[in-house]
Amino acid sequence: MLFFLDTADIKTIEKLNNYGLVDGVTTNPSIIAKSGVDFKQTIQAICSIVKGPVSAEVMGDTFDEMIKEANELSKIAKNVCIKLPTTMEGLKACRYLTDHGVQTNLTLCFSVTQAIMVAKAGATFVSPFIGRWDDVSLNGLNIISDIKKVYQNYNVKTKILAASIRHNVHVLECAKIGADVVTIPPALLEKMSQHPLTTQGIEIFKNDWKLANSK
Ligand code: E4P
Repeated sequence: MLFFLDTADIKTIEKLNNYGLVDGVTTNPSIIAKSGVDFKQTIQAICSIVKGPVSAEVMGDTFDEMIKEANELSKIAKNVCIKLPTTMEGLKACRYLTDHGVQTNLTLCFSVTQAIMVAKAGATFVSPFIGRWDDVSLNGLNIISDIKKVYQNYNVKTKILAASIRHNVHVLECAKIGADVVTIPPALLEKMSQHPLTTQGIEIFKNDWKLANSK
C-alpha cells in the first residue's frame, strides 16, 4: 500500500520524506489556503521534494476551465497529478487528460457508481472520502470495499486512493480491503509508528543494558 501525505506543509513533507515513507502528496484548496503560500509555488516546492504523484486541484467548473488550469499546473513538474472533481465536466476533463498522458486524481467521490464512471474516464486515482462519510453517520470503509470489489470484477487499472483518513483504524481497514493508496495527515503518520509496548520495551532494554555494562 502506498502512503501519500495529505498536506501542503513543505517543512513537514521534507522531514517525513527523509524517512523514506512518502510515496506521494495530496493537496486540496483548503489545505493550500491553510498553508498561506502561493499555490503554484507550493506545488513546485512539493514536486522538488517528493518523486511520486503530487495532486494539485483545479477550481474551474467547466471542461474548458479545468483543462486550462490543468495545462498550467502540468507545466510545473512531471509528477503533478491533476485533481478533478467527480462531476460530468470533471470526468470529461479526465478522459481528455488521460488521452494526453496526464495523471489524474478524481476527488470528492462518495459513491460506487461515481467510482465506476471515474474508471471509465481512465483516471489514475479515484479518491473516496472515508472520514466525511463517517461524519454523517455512514461507514466510509464500506465504500472502499465495494469499489475494490467492483474494480476487481473488471480488472480496472484506476487506483483506489482512500482519502479523508482520520485515524489508525481507517488505515488498517484500508490495508485489509486492499486500497492501493492511503493519503494520511502527517500527525497520523507519526502516530502510526508508535506503540506503548514499543516505548516500554526500549526503556527496559536500555536499563538492562546499562545494568549489565555497569558490573
Ligand atoms: C484528499 O485528497 C483530501 O485532501 C483529504 O483527504 C480530505 O480530507 P478531510 O475530509 O479531512 O478534509
